[in-house]
Amino acid sequence: MSQLNRRSALTAAGSLTLTTLLNQAVAADKAGIQGRVPKGKMRVVQLGEQKSFDTLTMAERTIPAPGPGQALIRVHYAGIAARDQGIAMKLFPVPPGPRPATLIPLSEGCGEVLALGAGEERIKVGDRVTAPHWANWVSGPWSPANYVADVGNTIDGWLGEYILLPAMALVRVPENVASEHAATLSGSGLTAWHALHEVAHVRSDDTVLTLGTGGVSSFGLLFAKAAGARVVVTSSSDAKLDQARQLGADITVNYKTNPQWGKEVMEKTGGQGASVVLENVGPATLDQSMAAAAVNARVVMIGTGRPPPNPPNMNGMYLKNLMLKAISAGSRTMMENMITAMAQNNLKPVIALTIPFAEAKRAYTEIRDGDHFGKIVIKIS
Ligand SMILES: NC(=O)c1ccc[n+]([C@@H]2O[C@H](COP(=O)([O-])OP(=O)(O)OC[C@H]3O[C@@H](n4cnc5c(N)ncnc54)[C@H](OP(=O)(O)O)[C@@H]3O)[C@@H](O)[C@H]2O)c1
Repeated sequence: MSQLNRRSALTAAGSLTLTTLLNQAVAADKAGIQGRVPKGKMRVVQLGEQKSFDTLTMAERTIPAPGPGQALIRVHYAGIAARDQGIAMKLFPVPPGPRPATLIPLSEGCGEVLALGAGEERIKVGDRVTAPHWANWVSGPWSPANYVADVGNTIDGWLGEYILLPAMALVRVPENVASEHAATLSGSGLTAWHALHEVAHVRSDDTVLTLGTGGVSSFGLLFAKAAGARVVVTSSSDAKLDQARQLGADITVNYKTNPQWGKEVMEKTGGQGASVVLENVGPATLDQSMAAAAVNARVVMIGTGRPPPNPPNMNGMYLKNLMLKAISAGSRTMMENMITAMAQNNLKPVIALTIPFAEAKRAYTEIRDGDHFGKIVIKIS
């Protein structure tokens, strides 16, 4: 460790004694670690028995040192997404069955790199970072092998004071992107970006339909407007539709008061329909999404909601020659492109609620209750 780094380590950890800090720094040097591993315990939330949100438990464990190719990050914010409810209750299908009781949940977050294991050159100590939740997916096409390192599902997630991640997953957060905002990107932001820019190749002459006003949908609105497209938003709530219009939605439709909302989208777009559909719910709404779609539209399957009792009528797919493509969040390269675009265009995610770490369980009940427009985040440090 250089004298400069050693000095900044000393300044940063004001409450520790000089001897302790020097010992730590020497130990770190011996292991080939750059930076500083704070000595002591960290508070984390663990999944526990996975019977209900009440079985999530606060625990303490030793702050880990990064091994080769790993990074230790002090977490500033974590984000919660729909899938985290399923993971907390043994309902998320891949991998099947319960996760270890000690698994730390949540796939989205942002923090500062404190220490790096041997072999990492791309990221530096002190960088503010986030990461896609598929920690091994750097670029190229999707592979189910990515499940081996799925943050908050098969490896520890962001709901703790520190997180150990593969350094190859990390994406530097530009200065003008706030940590609170960067903590919403790994699942929700990245999925909407992937759908719009990697699958649909959205253009300003597109009409983009994004279903609902939750995490993914709010990013659908943000990114589609940034691309200059016309945007249609559906919601069960007129108040949320008002908010969507304030955020730039051109056309809004209440799917609760009008179960045949696909026809309403068609009418309100002058009989053209949506050329891009972000299907954020799942097979249950596919019938109406097909009704709302333009001829030759690109329909991106995102929502993993339960299938309806009767399968959707797929005739619309053939009649309109629709393209149907399912996606799984996104890669590190996609995330780098997205975060650069956000920084350059000053794009800010919609945060519905910021919850203190001590009340982390509340984030689960809030996302289950569905009153939010946009993202729910947890402030850790
Ligand atoms: N494929 C992937 O990689 C990927 C990535 C992220 C998320 N997902 C999935 O995408 C879905 C959304 O995730 P999220 O995190 O954004 O969830 P979220 O924040 O909980 O939002 C859920 C949204 O669903 C809307 N909704 C529910 N029923 C609807 C219906 N019949 N028609 C239109 N909208 C409806 C609600 O809108 P209103 O409250 O406005 O009515 C709400 O905004 C989930 O199924 C999640 O598992 C998949």
